[in-house]
Order: sequence, then C-alpha cells, then structure tokens
Amino acid sequence: MASQFTEDVDAIRQGKRMKALILSGGKGTRLRPLTYTGAKQLVPVANKPILWYGIEAIVQAGITDIGIIISPETGEEIQEKTEDGSQFGANITYIAQEEPLGLAHAVKIAQPFLGNSPFVMYLGDNLVEGELTGFLQAFQTQRLDSLILLCPVSNPSAFGVAKVDEQGTVSDLLEKPQDPPSNLALVGIYFFTPRIHDAIAHIEPSARGELEITDAIQWLIDNKQPVGSRQLPGWWLDTGKKDDLLEANRIILDTKLEIKVSGEVDEDSELIGRVTIGEGTRIINSTIRGPAIIGSNCVLENCFIGPYTSIADEAILREADLEHSVILRESKVLQIQQRIVDSLIGERVELKMAPKRPKAMRFLLGDDSQVELT
Ligand code: DAU
Repeated sequence: MASQFTEDVDAIRQGKRMKALILSGGKGTRLRPLTYTGAKQLVPVANKPILWYGIEAIVQAGITDIGIIISPETGEEIQEKTEDGSQFGANITYIAQEEPLGLAHAVKIAQPFLGNSPFVMYLGDNLVEGELTGFLQAFQTQRLDSLILLCPVSNPSAFGVAKVDEQGTVSDLLEKPQDPPSNLALVGIYFFTPRIHDAIAHIEPSARGELEITDAIQWLIDNKQPVGSRQLPGWWLDTGKKDDLLEANRIILDTKLEIKVSGEVDEDSELIGRVTIGEGTRIINSTIRGPAIIGSNCVLENCFIGPYTSIADEAILREADLEHSVILRESKVLQIQQRIVDSLIGERVELKMAPKRPKAMRFLLGDDSQVELT
C-alpha cells in the first residue's frame, strides 16, 4: 500500500495524473475579418497556429491527456488540423461547447473528461514565453487549489484583474473592471484541483451572461481555499488584435527561429541572417533578410522581404517589398511599388498594382478591412 501511495505522489509530481483543458471555442470576433470564418486560435504566428504553442508547452510539462473545447463554428477546422494529438505526443479529446457561455461553463461541460484530476486550464488564444514546469511544481508542492498567473499590463480593464496584498496573497479578482484595483492582469493559464467544480456549481452568470472563471476562483478565496499567484517572468500576448499578433510574430521569430532552407534559392538571390524556407518553395532574384519564415510551395520573384515577416504556404509574391508583416496562405502580392509594412494579410487575398503609377484603385474588401495608403 505504502509503495502504491508513493507511486501516486510521484505520478502526480511528474504531471502524470494532471490533465489539461484548452479553451478553443468562443466566437473570435476580435480578429475580424480574419476570423469571421476561421478559428482565432489557428491564426499562425511564425507560420504555426497559436493553439499549437500551448499544446507544446503542456506536453513539455509532462501532461499528455488534453481536452480541447471547440465551438460548432470552428471546431471542425481545429480538429482537422490538430488531429488526435499524436504529432505532439499527446492524446487529445475534443469537447463540444454549443455556445460560448463562459470560461467556467467550459470547465463545467468538461467535467466528464476531467473527472477527479487536477488540471491546467489554458486559453487557446494566449501565447506565453517559457515553460509551465516551474508553475506546475509550485501548484503541486504548495498544495494549492488554484494557482493563477499574473502579468502587469498597461490596459488592465481589458482583462481579469487581481488585487494582491503586500505578501502576494490574492484577495480579489475582478473581470474587466472599469476601475481596476491594480495593473496585474490574469494570464490565460490556470492550475486547479477538482475543487474548482464545487466553486463553479456555486456561481451565477455575470452581467455579460457568462459563467466567469474569475468568479469561481473568487469563490475559492472567499471560502478560505488555498489560492496562490505567480507573476509571469517573460512576455505574454493575448493575441486578439492585429498589433498583438504582429508583436507575437516578431518575438517568436526573434527568439525561436532556426535557419532551415528546404526550397530552391537561385544564384541571384540572397538570404541574410536567420531565414527558414519550406519545401517546394522557389526564391528567384530576391533578398530575404531574417528573421523571416517562408512556408512551403511559395514563389517569390524579384522581392525584398525584410525582418519579422512570416509568409504562409502557397503564397505568390512578385515585385513585392515588405517587412514586419504576416501573410497567410495562398495569398498573392504582385507588383506593389511601395514597401508594405506592419500588415496582416489574410488567406487567399490578392494585392496587385499596375506596373506604373496607378490611375485608379479598385478594391474588393470584406467587412472591417483596413487599408492605409500612407
Ligand atoms: O487572455 C486572458 C483573459 O482571458 C483573462 O485576463 C480574463 O480574465 C479571461 O476572462 C479571458 O478574457 P477574454 O475576454 O480574453 O476571453 P475570451 O472570450 O477571448 O476567451 C478566451 C479563450 O477561451 C478563447 O480561446 C475562446 C475560449 N472560450 C471562451 C468562452 C467565453 C471558450 O472556449 N468558451 C467560452 O465560452
């Protein structure tokens, strides 16, 4: 018996009994028009879906039993791309949430999957630097019912906000407060024991009609259950908006990109610094100054690609000059006489200019598109 107990403790310590719940449902309205139809969690950063960074961090912490919350609108696309998790060394169970009724609602419907396991809850649109292992150890060794991660931000009203006393103890959590008690935002990574299910059973939907996880954690605090907090040492991006996404792309390319050239680069082209080029891509008479990543089966001819640029698979660029930009798959950028900067271009977009100074401009732009000719 004693050895069974020791094995259990070891298993918990090694994260074996821990599960993970990734929230990848919701409507994703903030990256419109990119996410009118697609899942915001699948928007790529450095050509890899945001969601996959979370899965990799979870697996790296030793947790392989992962549930992913999906919505009716985007769930199929997420399942098709992410599959059963074997490509990450994980075992993924998909859990359908019919309506985005809140983060705590997502935990509630995941209860059959979570059972009695402690778990890490990870918001699928968050991108965080560094490992989860240290936080997991703190959660387990301090025998907390919840560990939350905090990060100072300049716009706390856009997040859940924590009021923390001088000893670092959390006393209050407020969801998107108009008058924030601190600048410490709740990062979208939380550790819970099954006691959170009790808490969720006791809360009511908020004014915006959602079951808030912040209210459930507040219930734990009010009921004297141990809740700890840690400040995130590195950067964190809640990649909801264009500039956040470009910044995430810049940071990932800056810190993670390796030199890897699989395509064909002709002798009139030059690659400078860290550049990755995918299979089947042809680079003709072009300069690419890294850090930059070009996906597979692209054609780049007579182009200058500047730093912090990600171009997804099957894009075609001719006579184009761009930097600090993200171009999604199958887009075409042709004969643009001006440098394109700080831009996010969706899938299958076609941007084309007349070879000389254009006499007129013709647009077909979806709702909420933004064009700046500066
Ligand atoms: O990003 C951190 C913030 O995330 C925290 O500071 C807030 O306290 C927390 O409430 C949350 O706020 P957001 O407004 O950013 O949450 P959002 O609606 O964007 O949802 C976060 C993720 O969870 C996203 O991947 C969609 C998914 N989701 C959301 C809801 C409401 C679901 O899967 N189901 C849902 O019902």
